[in-house]
Amino acid sequence: MSLHDHPHHETWPRKLRCKDGLEVTLRPLEAADFESLLAFFQSMPREDRLFLRYDVFNVEFFRQLVLESLQNGRYLRLLAFHEGSLVGHGLLEPDNHLWSPHVGEVRIMVRKEFRRHSLGALLMRELVDQASLRLFDKLTVRLMDTQAAVRAMCERAGFQIEAELKNHVRDLDGKKHTLLLMSCSLDDAWHAMEFLLEDVAPWTI
Ligand SMILES: CC(C)(COP(=O)(O)OP(=O)(O)OC[C@H]1O[C@@H](n2cnc3c(N)ncnc32)[C@H](O)[C@@H]1OP(=O)(O)O)[C@@H](O)C(=O)NCCC(=O)NCCS
Repeated sequence: MSLHDHPHHETWPRKLRCKDGLEVTLRPLEAADFESLLAFFQSMPREDRLFLRYDVFNVEFFRQLVLESLQNGRYLRLLAFHEGSLVGHGLLEPDNHLWSPHVGEVRIMVRKEFRRHSLGALLMRELVDQASLRLFDKLTVRLMDTQAAVRAMCERAGFQIEAELKNHVRDLDGKKHTLLLMSCSLDDAWHAMEFLLEDVAPWTI
């Protein structure tokens, strides 16, 4: 089935089962989720926070970012809950430049104890589905060269490296890294993820 024939899912919340039977409930962020989202990012292990693009301890700045994403219908922050606590976050962010209205950026974060249950891939599949509803046709992911898990996950999801910018970014410790820009067309991502999640994650349970 191509992405265009697929019936898109817009009913939230939705319950899904990941690999090894892990059940999660997905729904978009609401304003009332701000404190949980803040706690989710602030409690990330330092090795993961090293690569965050924004300082999540600058609370007012982070609040503005989150509010801005709630006010723009092309943004989506998708939250995954397990037994009521926030365990995953997927962001679809429009490129706001006039040149690239068809390009969206994806960022995915899964709480450490919940990794390797296909939740990252599942959030990616949902974001691809929603990206098609929002009329994007190309997705990008930006990452530092040392982020091996993200790179592996994105490659499994159909992304390829499109550009490398040497010493372009610094982590929270000030260490310089190469910035990798990965990208894929929505169709390619869709095919890769149908295959990846074939037996694991039905759209709903
Ligand atoms: C990247 C991340 C979101 C992956 O989440 P996850 O739920 O563990 O990913 P999945 O279980 O869906 O993995 C899907 C595939 O990606 C690959 N993969 C994921 N983590 C990997 C790792 N640590 N090493 C190698 N491959 C990995 C595997 O191919 C995996 O499929 P498999 O388990 O069937 O082999 C998670 O590791 C994370 O939150 N990392 C830190 C945050 C971050 O840097 N986010 C990037 C912002 S874009």
